[in-house]
Amino acid sequence: MYVVVGARGFLGSYIVRSVLKDTTEDVLAIARNVEGMPSDDRVRWASCDVTDGDDVRRLNEGYLRQNEDNKIVYLAAYHHPDEVEKNPRLAWDTNVTSLSRFLNTAENVVRFFYPSTDSVYGDSVDGHHFLETDALAPVNRYGRQKCAAEAMVTAYGYNVVRFPFLIAPSLAPGKKHFYDVIAATLKAGEPMEMFADSYRSALDFGQAAELTVRLMELPEAAPAIVNVCGDEDLSKYDIGLRIADKLGVSRELVKPISINGGSGIFQAKRAASTLMDNGLLKKTLGLTEVHPAL
Ligand SMILES: NC(=O)c1ccc[n+]([C@@H]2O[C@H](COP(=O)([O-])OP(=O)(O)OC[C@H]3O[C@@H](n4cnc5c(N)ncnc54)[C@H](OP(=O)(O)O)[C@@H]3O)[C@@H](O)[C@H]2O)c1
Repeated sequence: MYVVVGARGFLGSYIVRSVLKDTTEDVLAIARNVEGMPSDDRVRWASCDVTDGDDVRRLNEGYLRQNEDNKIVYLAAYHHPDEVEKNPRLAWDTNVTSLSRFLNTAENVVRFFYPSTDSVYGDSVDGHHFLETDALAPVNRYGRQKCAAEAMVTAYGYNVVRFPFLIAPSLAPGKKHFYDVIAATLKAGEPMEMFADSYRSALDFGQAAELTVRLMELPEAAPAIVNVCGDEDLSKYDIGLRIADKLGVSRELVKPISINGGSGIFQAKRAASTLMDNGLLKKTLGLTEVHPAL
């Protein structure tokens, strides 16, 4: 059984979809609020706030202990870099303390995958594509908390997948993703400013979810840490152009801006460019190319 903690989130919704499409497994979908979420013969919803130790114990005793082979994807996080900077203790409680307790509580775990981020690497100098073995040099508190989380997950013998900037239409009820904002703006014929000089090995949520599930389904354990990212170095401006093409609207609506001139958009420091190497992902899954489906 897959246990998706944070199943109502952007990535969580795609993970649930991928498990249902690509495996025969059932899903235990976990969110803080499960009101109105429809259970069926393959998906059951259960509530759990990971910062509440009693909730986590109840989840373990009521569900995880009753099942022999739990494949856990742990997505619960306090992850907006600006919010992490503003509320560091609250963020630490969710991202580090609660994760530690969850790792040490969950029973019958056959797979545990933790989504980390390219933010653990910091800035790519001269177009360097970071390997999983490279030194970590995060430039903000979010990245540092992710480093701490990764260390706990791997020390427990579980798996980390490092994602780049992810984008796609939201499947999460009542939540709009940045993709949806771009699409709505462009469809309304309004201009959309996007960074043209800041690059990521970007991927869409659908592929990020599908590749994660493929790694989890390998008969042998996957490498402890894998960069799950695309082949191309893409700016948000590049992504905006692809969305404009997809929608059949004028590319002129997408306006390039510089990350250095974009003061006021972000509060927490960001790496200008962070690029990742996906050779290990390709080797592990026998892939030749990975491109975002945009
Ligand atoms: N999106 C990206 O580009 C990206 C890139 C790299 C890494 N990641 C990582 O991927 C993970 C998921 O991100 P996302 O983009 O899918 O964001 P998201 O939509 O905000 O998902 C995070 C989920 O965590 C849940 N959550 C937060 N605090 C919780 C708590 N105390 N107890 C239980 N659940 C809690 C939220 O549940 P509620 O529905 O209850 O609020 C939400 O559904 C995060 O760890 C993030 O760092 C994302």
